[in-house]
Amino acid sequence: MLSVEFIENQRKILDQTKLPFKERYLALNSAEEVSEAIKSMAVRGAPAIGIAAGYALALSDNPEKDYVTLLSSRPTAVDLKNALDFVAKGKTIEERKKLASLWQAGVSEACASIAENGASLLEKHNNVLTHCNTGAVATGVEYGTALGIIKKLKESGKDIFVYVGETRPRMQGAITSWELNKLKIPNSVIVDSAAGYFIYSGKVDAVMLGADRIAANGDFANKIGTYSLAVLAKENSIPFYVAAPLSSFDFSIDSGDKIKLEMRGEKEIIGDAYAGSTSALNPAFDITPARYVTRFITEKGIFSPEGVGSIGKIHRS
Ligand code: MRU
Repeated sequence: MLSVEFIENQRKILDQTKLPFKERYLALNSAEEVSEAIKSMAVRGAPAIGIAAGYALALSDNPEKDYVTLLSSRPTAVDLKNALDFVAKGKTIEERKKLASLWQAGVSEACASIAENGASLLEKHNNVLTHCNTGAVATGVEYGTALGIIKKLKESGKDIFVYVGETRPRMQGAITSWELNKLKIPNSVIVDSAAGYFIYSGKVDAVMLGADRIAANGDFANKIGTYSLAVLAKENSIPFYVAAPLSSFDFSIDSGDKIKLEMRGEKEIIGDAYAGSTSALNPAFDITPARYVTRFITEKGIFSPEGVGSIGKIHRS
């Protein structure tokens, strides 16, 4: 089963807050419930939240109001807005349901093409470091983005080893490792601060990860820690790849400083580990300037940062 499913008029999502220990599906009955699931990260990952929101809007009796509720769930991933705008074109529930499943089918095709395109680029790399979770769970379709490429490489018989950034504080690395183990792809989780050690000692051939919003100049937002990895990759002369579907591009903004980055609550960091008066700051994403990206891997092909503008033109034509 996919992490976001629409079965017999029910929106079902795999509760990612319970992974990797429990595979529990939640049936969500209203736009408010879907919005809460996005906020709490029961459904997370840019393409997956877009699909979930699309189905929520499809079944709505009050689409104008629910559009606003759903859009305000989380601010950074543009897939949310892109999916909602697509589904909102439907005037009736039936029309919107068709559009929502068309959107999911489009993400599915895009991720399969990203896997094909990226596999040829990654052919020469055996040891890849990734961050956050970009697998099928995060996309709501069969292939992930960055992890979809790794799955494709494995399917073509390549030996590949993955360094999995733990991704404090929400530990999306645990989901990544769980997905890789299911696919029988060798991997080890590392604490986020160990990335420099492994990259500097020459053990990592490439860094590859996903994106939540890519501006027209190629600056992009992704999980907190991405910028540090980009700087490490450049400093150590290894490639830094970003795999994302066109639904994660925002051609309406010219640069990354226009991207709103989500700040989450301090409890995610402090938990039970700190004494009462400790405060914490918890940015969920950061911006990586385009100049750090070796290549963007999309369903339309592979692009340098300077080429992102031309993706925008393909997209509009
Ligand atoms: O806060 P999250 O877990 O929703 O953040 C997700 C990411 O940063 C992913 O890297 C991104 O959405 C790409 S998922 C294919």
